[in-house]
Amino acid sequence: MESAIIAGTGIYQLPGFFFEQLVFETEYGQAFINVGKKDGFELAFLARHGLDHSTPPHKINFRANMKALQMLGVKQILATYAVGSINRDIPPASLTVLSDFLDFTSGRPLSFFEGGKSGLAHTAMDEPYCPSLSQRMQNLAPEFGLDIHPGAVYVATNGPRFETPAEIRMYAKLGGDVVGMTGIPEVVLARELNMHFAAVAYSINWAAGLEKNIEFVSSQMEVTKQKLSSLLIRTLQGRIVMTCSCEKAVMFMHAPENV
Ligand code: HPA
Repeated sequence: MESAIIAGTGIYQLPGFFFEQLVFETEYGQAFINVGKKDGFELAFLARHGLDHSTPPHKINFRANMKALQMLGVKQILATYAVGSINRDIPPASLTVLSDFLDFTSGRPLSFFEGGKSGLAHTAMDEPYCPSLSQRMQNLAPEFGLDIHPGAVYVATNGPRFETPAEIRMYAKLGGDVVGMTGIPEVVLARELNMHFAAVAYSINWAAGLEKNIEFVSSQMEVTKQKLSSLLIRTLQGRIVMTCSCEKAVMFMHAPENV
């Protein structure tokens, strides 16, 4: 199964799919991946926080999840993230394709390559999100009545707390457009596995300090999330021309012993 969707807060099913849940035992721990098929198209579906939203952002086992997707044969992934808006041009209820990130997480395992048997590698991050998949998604969006803001910088925080106004002012100065708690290390691990990984963020609030009170618009976004899910499925279906360097991102100093 070559394609996967990783869904964030508020997306727990996909239109037209009935999923069976598989449990994977990886060297990093357990992962729960849902697999399904529609009109001959096979898809893996991972609800990042669990189908019952029981896993907080800082407790997600990203390495087990990504390893399990690799074990399934996944080569291309579309991910969604619920975020807060830092950039005034990306207001709550809008969608944006991610093009870059700022990593402010701490204490999370960031790599499959820990030296020794697991190998040692440096992974290129000049294009962290697959430009081919991102462009395809952007091109198909109008067919689903969606307008997607291009090229946003995602600020990854640890959570589970929200940010302070001073933190958001700092992130804005550094060029951050949206802020969320789960984008890192997911995209980094995908690149370490030579996968094509693109992501779309849906904003559910203004980030702290931008408005008097934080107001969440999640409940007004059901139709948008439905359309987005259909767009993600369509983007992964059919022959995709990849003109990116995602499959050559990893530079090994020492190859892993077990591959
Ligand atoms: N900050 C961090 N993560 C988030 C936010 C936010 O404002 N909104 C949704 N996820």
